[in-house]
Amino acid sequence: MSLSFRNLGEGDLNQILDWEESCFPGETWTEKMIQTHLEFHVAFGIGNPEIQCYALVCETPWEIEIFRIATLPNFRKQGIAKQMLENLFQKFPKKEFFLEVKESNEPAIKLYLSVGFLELERRKKYYPDGSTAVLMKRNPIE
Ligand SMILES: CC(C)(COP(=O)(O)OP(=O)(O)OC[C@H]1O[C@@H](n2cnc3c(N)ncnc32)[C@H](O)[C@@H]1OP(=O)(O)O)[C@@H](O)C(=O)NCCC(=O)NCCS
Repeated sequence: MSLSFRNLGEGDLNQILDWEESCFPGETWTEKMIQTHLEFHVAFGIGNPEIQCYALVCETPWEIEIFRIATLPNFRKQGIAKQMLENLFQKFPKKEFFLEVKESNEPAIKLYLSVGFLELERRKKYYPDGSTAVLMKRNPIE
């Protein structure tokens, strides 16, 4: 079943803060960071009708960078993040997609590989906790 996909905006700020607490414990973005993101960049949610997965995304004329994607804990392993990514690829069919992910985040890396991302490089000591980042890229559909 395809889930409804929509832009998130200022009115979703408090919800996004709650989702951050559930999905990134100890690594949440602050209210200011999310507010700034919503002001200058884009955010999407998917769910039916309540949002089950969200993504914070930066669009430039050439590429899309995915800063954040998370499925709320109760909805994981049902293909929802995959649907979110497929929606993003359809929305921006001509753009290259980039993202960075902790090399220890096996569920996320498997998800990204399953939708066509390839590893570009690894950056050691990239995150504040000293862990390594995997930089990944997906080429446009067209
Ligand atoms: C990573 C995350 C977004 C995956 O969301 P999800 O909705 O559960 O993912 P999906 O159900 O769409 O899974 C799609 C594919 O990803 C992989 N995957 C997802 N969860 C996995 C897990 N726990 N273990 C191994 N592979 C996993 C599988 O390849 C899966 O395909 P399959 O079910 O056919 O095997 C989710 O675990 C999450 O929100 N994690 C916390 C936040 C996070 O780390 N975000 C990414 C970094 S920004």
